[in-house]
Amino acid sequence: MDRIIAQKRIEELTRILRENSRLYYVENAPVISDYEFDMLMHELESLEADFPEFAAPDSPTRRVGSDSEAGFAKVAHKYPMLSLANTYSITEVEEFAARAEKSLNQAFDWCCELKFDGTAICLTYRKGVLVQALTRGDGVVGDDVTANALRISNIPHRLKGSGYPDEFEIRGEILMPYESFDRLNREREESEEAPFANPRNAASGSLKLQDSAEVARRGLMCTLYHIPAGQVDFPTHDEALRAAESWGLPVSEHRRLCRGIAEVEEFIGHWDTARKQLPFPTDGIVLKINELAFQRQLGYTAKSPRWAVAYKFKAEQALTPVLSIDYQVGRTGAVTPVANLEPVFISGTMVRRATLVNEDQMRQLDLHEGDWVYVEKGGEIIPKITGTDPSRRAPGARVPVFPSVCPDCGTPLVRTEGEAKWFCPNTDSCPTQIRGRLLHFVSRKAMNILAGDATVQQLYDLGLVRMPSDLYRLHPMQLLTLEGWQERSVQRFTDSLKESLQVGFERVLYAVGIRFVGETTARDLARHFGSMDKIASASREELLSVPNIGSVIADSVLDFFSREGNVREIARLRESGLKMEMEGGTETLSGNLDGKTFVISGTYSISRDDMKALIQAHGGRISSSLSARTDYLLAGEKPGPEKMKKAAQLGIAVLDEKALRAMLPSGDAKEEGPLELTLF
Ligand code: IVH
Repeated sequence: MDRIIAQKRIEELTRILRENSRLYYVENAPVISDYEFDMLMHELESLEADFPEFAAPDSPTRRVGSDSEAGFAKVAHKYPMLSLANTYSITEVEEFAARAEKSLNQAFDWCCELKFDGTAICLTYRKGVLVQALTRGDGVVGDDVTANALRISNIPHRLKGSGYPDEFEIRGEILMPYESFDRLNREREESEEAPFANPRNAASGSLKLQDSAEVARRGLMCTLYHIPAGQVDFPTHDEALRAAESWGLPVSEHRRLCRGIAEVEEFIGHWDTARKQLPFPTDGIVLKINELAFQRQLGYTAKSPRWAVAYKFKAEQALTPVLSIDYQVGRTGAVTPVANLEPVFISGTMVRRATLVNEDQMRQLDLHEGDWVYVEKGGEIIPKITGTDPSRRAPGARVPVFPSVCPDCGTPLVRTEGEAKWFCPNTDSCPTQIRGRLLHFVSRKAMNILAGDATVQQLYDLGLVRMPSDLYRLHPMQLLTLEGWQERSVQRFTDSLKESLQVGFERVLYAVGIRFVGETTARDLARHFGSMDKIASASREELLSVPNIGSVIADSVLDFFSREGNVREIARLRESGLKMEMEGGTETLSGNLDGKTFVISGTYSISRDDMKALIQAHGGRISSSLSARTDYLLAGEKPGPEKMKKAAQLGIAVLDEKALRAMLPSGDAKEEGPLELTLF
């Protein structure tokens, strides 16, 4: 290659990789796939090998991407936290193995492990007690996330057994299991917060929250896989991990010692399919030389060990044609283009629709009508279109025109600076937005009113309901005259309206649908200010002083309460009897359950979500599985027999609902039916 061209390309790749590394590690919102990123990195590595004079001293090939963020104390790593060389090619794995065999010239084992797709963590135990948790940061200095790590349920605060060094570090990965990821993204979508692109970004974003109680709720897990050299005295990596396991540390059981590359390939072949059954995300296999003496002999490059390599699996993709494009209007007026696809199977599910995200993304993909597109579903709930195949494009295919008016109400769309999306500004009368807001208001996590799509559509079409407050002014007799309604369904609907008056203020705040105010933010705001009036009159500075509230949310809250229609609607909801303040103000929240970890099982007089909120409101923590660190198993009616058995084995106290309520201040201790029950 021409020197000048090589120099230009090296500069370009360096810039692209730096920017994408930032988007990946800091923003937790990558715009290119891991595969594309790795390919660009490999291209840069090979160009720098040919033209070392053009390599920047701080080239991305020599440094690990930095995940460091403001708001956390910076702590230097005792041993640098490195990355791993990676490849998507079995031939390259074979070449790596051949090089290792040649240079060692002695028999050795490979310890083959899963490559966990989360975010790296480094734990320090001193005298058996967890004293520090650091992220990788830039590999040299990490962010101190100890308070958050303490809220991850399978990280032991204290080691068991004996024989552990006085002080040592152990490294691994923080992961978000698919179940937690799906729940988190469902909640975020319900509240129109941007969903996380994949469980890795969700894990990394969650570990960096400023609110440890929220970290506890996110359902993260930890798996450990590396004790930096020289801290423990074992001949092999596998024995070191076994010892860690005996001290109660979470080490993956899915590893195997392999002699020779054929056995390694068997392991890879097995997990290529078997990994799809795992409850957490993995993106490859890591091969490590098992003998620690050989690891020492081979040593490290600036960025990665010479004794290990990662073989990465490609995300599953499919190629299928776009049949048509819908432009969907959300409850906030945001317009999202969605492609209807010729149905295609990816990772075990039939995919019919995929998001095109926004107009810029459509342009970036160079999408034409009827294009064959690559669809990926790497853990994301909404499949994504990652590319087009121009070779299959019909001659004369047109570029789709993004609508200039709202597909529902015809109002010209607007796109303000800094927004990636077009919006329908007709907030007050765009039917889709109105119905979207009503559906949000009645949803389970909001007011939990017995009304779905069809009911909302019917009440809207008949002109009976425009605003949520209209729901509380419907008369049962009026409903009885409507098509499809009988006495029983009217009764159930009006009962659920009545019950919704008992819903706590934080859920009311979530239900009114302030943009960017999801469940968690609503809870933070409600607890901080204590009432709707205080939130409505809060200044920007006051809003910004609440943990986890940034300028986007603060501005959205200010904008909401600056609109006369919203203020009027809040007043009407107040008249209907909805709770507009925390019961008895914020001070009734007690610390009676401070520091206590609960696992809950069975059913209660209130919903499980409400029970969790009740425990958390009094300072308790919820964990999904029983461990030595669980303080109580809260057994409602019909608790899980496995949980009861395990609690007995571990000697964990079992409480029933009455016993729990006896631990709370009198407000929450009274035994009442679900309707009269006050949460806070
Ligand atoms: S060993 C000195 N083992 O992958 C190297 N890393 O892409 C220590 N990872 O930075 C790392 N699973 O965050 C190792 N079984 C495993 C792993 C693993 C995932 C992560 C780790 C590393 C990254 C490199």
